[in-house]
Amino acid sequence: MPSTVILGTGSYAPDRVLTNAELSTKVDTSDEWIRSRSGIRERRIAAPGEATSDMAVKAAQAALVDAGITATDIDLLIVATITPDLPLPAASCIIQHKLGMRTNTACFDLNAACSGFVYALDTASAMLASGRYRRGLVIGAEKLSSIVDWQDRTTCVLFGDGAGAAVLGQSEQPGIGLLGTKLGAYGDCVDLLCITHGGSSNPTTPESIAARNHCIRMKGKEVFKLAVRAMDEAARDILEQHQLHADQIGLVIPHQANLRIIEAISQYLELPMERFFVNVERYGNTSAASIPLALDEARRTGLIKPGDLTLLVAFGAGLTYGSALIRW
Ligand code: UT7
Repeated sequence: MPSTVILGTGSYAPDRVLTNAELSTKVDTSDEWIRSRSGIRERRIAAPGEATSDMAVKAAQAALVDAGITATDIDLLIVATITPDLPLPAASCIIQHKLGMRTNTACFDLNAACSGFVYALDTASAMLASGRYRRGLVIGAEKLSSIVDWQDRTTCVLFGDGAGAAVLGQSEQPGIGLLGTKLGAYGDCVDLLCITHGGSSNPTTPESIAARNHCIRMKGKEVFKLAVRAMDEAARDILEQHQLHADQIGLVIPHQANLRIIEAISQYLELPMERFFVNVERYGNTSAASIPLALDEARRTGLIKPGDLTLLVAFGAGLTYGSALIRW
């Protein structure tokens, strides 16, 4: 049976760098606090008028070049995002048009927050395996600066903007490509990380806007604990499924939320930090963009070679989690 393979990757981060020092002039925080609690030194912020779709298009164009195909070769587009350009329609339709894709391309958005790219990878892989689609484009893109409460120091220091993309196809070569995925969610923990207003249960009102209830709220400590547990379990489960030992993984690409979370997973899996790709210090948490951005940087810096095993592992609002195992 053919397997799903990644034919190319691309990423994009806006030019504007927001440093911890600059943030500490806006809220009561410090470079020392942010770096010691999260590992973040700076994040990127989209330009005024730059939407999630604009960043997604740039990442997608780079991925298409890397794959050596054009946008018209794609017949399936999945965009993982919690910050679509508009509440309606899906960002994928806007991106389809901007990329000049054919109108018989299936387009939809997927919301699994920071686990979105892994969820989208699994979904696209199943759709390609059905035989009804030939080439998939999976994008994780976020403009989190548009939903962050810039007066809330407990969250505004953590998030950033960016995009990453992967072009997917199929291969008959045995043992390579997406070997497996493991997805799940703790739906009983919705309130740990959410936006309480602006949806059907609490539509936007002048009062909700004044209280900035259309912005991200997070119980950081609780999320931290669950993130470590869920990512450790998601990694172990998929390794067990494939009868692999952690030591056989060439590179782990974890969701980039907090350096301390990544270090904890490294300890739990007894796998040294050198095997973990980390760029959280430069981008902060970019939610669904975090893993594809890191994956693209890892590939472009030569950290992934043919035959290597790569483990993606994610965790996010929902609380969702997911892992994916790829042989290159
Ligand atoms: O992508 C989705 C997944 N999200 C995550 O994985 C995030 C998970 N959580 C975290 O990364 C961490 O919990 C944080 C980085 C958000 C916070 O680190 P923490 O070590 O859990 O700190 P804390 O929330 O317990 O806060 C410690 C102290 C508090 O003061 P008191 O109560 O001890 O006096 C906070 O008010 O630090 C204070 N604090 C700050 N101080 C300076 C909170 N935010 C800031 C800040 N600057 N930005």
